[in-house]
Amino acid sequence: MTSLSSLIEKQFAGERLGAIREVAERAAGQGLRVYLVGGVVRDLLLGRQIVDIDIVVEGDALALARALAETKGWQITGHQRFGTAKLRRDGTTLDLATARLETYSKPGTLPDVRPGAIADDLRRRDFTINTMAIEVTPTHFGDIIDTHGGQADLRQKLVRILHPQSFIDDPTRIFRAIRYEQRLGFRLEAETEKLLRRDVSWLGQVSGDRLRHELELVLKEEAPETALRRAGDLGVLREVHPGLAGNGWLTERFESARRNGSASTGLYLALLAYPPQADVESLIARLRLRREVARVLRDTQALRRDLQGLAHPEMRPSAAYALLQRYSMIAVRACLLASDDCLVKERLTKYLDEWRYVKSLLTGDALGKLGVPKGEGVGQVLEELRRARLDGEVETVEQEMALVRKWLETH
Ligand code: CTP
Repeated sequence: MTSLSSLIEKQFAGERLGAIREVAERAAGQGLRVYLVGGVVRDLLLGRQIVDIDIVVEGDALALARALAETKGWQITGHQRFGTAKLRRDGTTLDLATARLETYSKPGTLPDVRPGAIADDLRRRDFTINTMAIEVTPTHFGDIIDTHGGQADLRQKLVRILHPQSFIDDPTRIFRAIRYEQRLGFRLEAETEKLLRRDVSWLGQVSGDRLRHELELVLKEEAPETALRRAGDLGVLREVHPGLAGNGWLTERFESARRNGSASTGLYLALLAYPPQADVESLIARLRLRREVARVLRDTQALRRDLQGLAHPEMRPSAAYALLQRYSMIAVRACLLASDDCLVKERLTKYLDEWRYVKSLLTGDALGKLGVPKGEGVGQVLEELRRARLDGEVETVEQEMALVRKWLETH
């Protein structure tokens, strides 16, 4: 058997290696075997950066985690139902899980779970490249378990499911397959691609919460547009919502968003839902989007319809300001990226960079002293001063005072 002990020692040198050994030694003391599994093994073999360290225990992971928390100063967050625990100490985090055997009773729902052996735990997984384990039990430290051909698929750069029922068991794997393919620069293995296309309609069985989660994971990738484009080509996006498309238009906008530093999940979603045919109300309902995100999508649509107004050359800055300040900032950014009209773009940029920060020099207190009635009166005058400043009618304090006096004469 190949030993990867030196690879682990090199990759996790320091805190993280010490932590892995600590868990493994305690487990061995209880006669349990422990393994690094899934993404961590895949990324270790690919030489990619490792963020999460997933450890599987052939035995009660939660009890093991509790024992470590009691004696070794780990903070623990546990999930009794799933037999999992997160251990944190200083900057190090480990995710512990009990090896599990899963069976699916109904497509699109969560599986039935029982404790099992490491082989069961690997067999239940999504793709061969995620089915490898490296044992870290002291007596077997570094032994790799690769019963599904994971290393071969890593070499061939293939994303391959383990059995023909895989996407039906868990249709969210459709998104996962695309994410790995695009992130790692791999290809879907031919039969896997055929089955994915066959099973794409099973996404209809997935709850809004799970679907939203998958889409958010796509949008958190380094270049989400490549995965969206692929999802579009494979017929996946239209299963989520008939109006969604991953095309060249979207790619250009996502790239610009990253270049100008405005990229965020909300912004990406607003751009994805920008085309008029992407009826946002049904998208919001299907994905059960949170209130703030829903607002961004609604604002983006409403502002898209208002953009014609912004294209009028005579429109004053104060009128543009009054129109734009009703909308969330992300919606304004999305429309800036989406619009092709120079004047519209110029005004949206002005709003984002300058107009929204414009304030009068005179404060509310100062207006009170000048005799403006407190409350509504002060509010009105502050607005009027901002308007005049936006339109270039006042610059100095004296000019503002003159405007206030004029207001007092007429009110
Ligand atoms: N997994 C699975 N089916 C799913 C979700 C997860 O088989 N629907 C398995 C995979 O083996 C995966 C592991 O659980 O490697 C952990 O899941 P996750 O943290 O989502 O994936 P990672 O591989 O760690 O990938 P990422 O780099 O995206 O975090």
